[in-house]
Amino acid sequence: MAQRARFLSYLRTSPWWSNVEMGPPDAILGVTESFKRDTNPKKINLGVGAYRDDNGKPFVLPSVLKAQENLYKKGLDKEYSSISGNPEFCKETINLALGHDNVVIKNHCCSTVQGISGTGSLWIGASYLSRFFPGNKEIYLPTPSWGNHSPLFKMSGLGVKSYRYYNPENCGLDFQGALEDINNIPEQSIILFHACAHNPTGVDPKPEQWYELSELVKKKKLFCFFDMAYQGFASGDVNKDSQAVRLFIKEGHYIALAQSFAKNMGLYGERVGAFSLINSSKEEAACTLSQLKILIRPMYSNPPINGARIVTEILSNSELKKEWLTDVKGMADRIISIRAKLEENLKKNGSTRNWSHITDQIGMFCFTGLKPDQVERLTKEYSVYLTKDGRISMAGVTSKNVDYLAYAIHEVTK
Ligand SMILES: Cc1ncc(COP(=O)(O)O)c(C=O)c1O
Repeated sequence: MAQRARFLSYLRTSPWWSNVEMGPPDAILGVTESFKRDTNPKKINLGVGAYRDDNGKPFVLPSVLKAQENLYKKGLDKEYSSISGNPEFCKETINLALGHDNVVIKNHCCSTVQGISGTGSLWIGASYLSRFFPGNKEIYLPTPSWGNHSPLFKMSGLGVKSYRYYNPENCGLDFQGALEDINNIPEQSIILFHACAHNPTGVDPKPEQWYELSELVKKKKLFCFFDMAYQGFASGDVNKDSQAVRLFIKEGHYIALAQSFAKNMGLYGERVGAFSLINSSKEEAACTLSQLKILIRPMYSNPPINGARIVTEILSNSELKKEWLTDVKGMADRIISIRAKLEENLKKNGSTRNWSHITDQIGMFCFTGLKPDQVERLTKEYSVYLTKDGRISMAGVTSKNVDYLAYAIHEVTK
């Protein structure tokens, strides 16, 4: 009793956290929570950014299952990885991004480290830039951008600004707006590009527009940070999806690159990704790599081993890699075909609006152009769950629910 009284009195006299306010819930996880509570059998969750098969179930890639079996048979130990991660993984992952014959790889100009999926890899890059970037320590993000970009870069100490990207008038790219804004960015600042399948809009520049962006960025002496979270997942072709990254390197930009294997290998919870800097020489690459390791060591010492082993097993085994390329194309093709079905069904339901952006956009997400009140009606009246900005995850649309979804969207937009 006396002990309890002492504890209560301690709490009264030492209110360490009484000034800590309740933080807002995560927007996307909030959508999932409301979805779970809904009892309507027709309910659809289009908030979450993870691939689902045509039965709406999580999907483990057959190539990943095979890789796991191979690894199990090898009976590997559980020793620590090195600070920069699995060296084979780092080699394979940068080869996948840039292509095996890329001159910067041949000349040992890349410093690549394993990261904790895409987010952790972005974080390594952000921390590095906030310490070592010699220019203006401000990063310019497209409007809109992935919701985690702004807090991540702010928390790392960089200033965060924006450039126009999405045009709500036509649910497409505001290319002129982007060019104008980029032209006004102070020289020697940092600019972020989504390498493909822009999240949340699904709107990517065309190859000739990427070329124009590269020229402008060169003129403005900007440093480019590419976030590549969807290589292969957008078009079904890993080479096509990395064309912007490869073009910028060919055009002489020394870029930073964050990669994730969450979507294209379905390794969400394994948290496997990579961060790379493209340097001007082998010597410079050795220096930047040494500093990346110094940043990583106090953060988490060294990365987890399992996901990197799975990726390495797939990418280093030509048969398995072929199977993976088929798996990733299968996921991309399902998304592409369900986009077409949604557009078609909207027309069948009698919608006369222009929905061509559904099939023009690419990747996991579709920025529907639905207004907040329409989103609210979709959720309240039809049990269709999505984020307030009108973004839907195409991965949650299946051949079984696409008719109902089209009907519901038409009802709130007619
Ligand atoms: C644009 C973008 N970057 C990075 C990520 C990071 O994802 P993860 O940390 O799961 O690899 C995502 C995931 O949704 C994304 O959409």
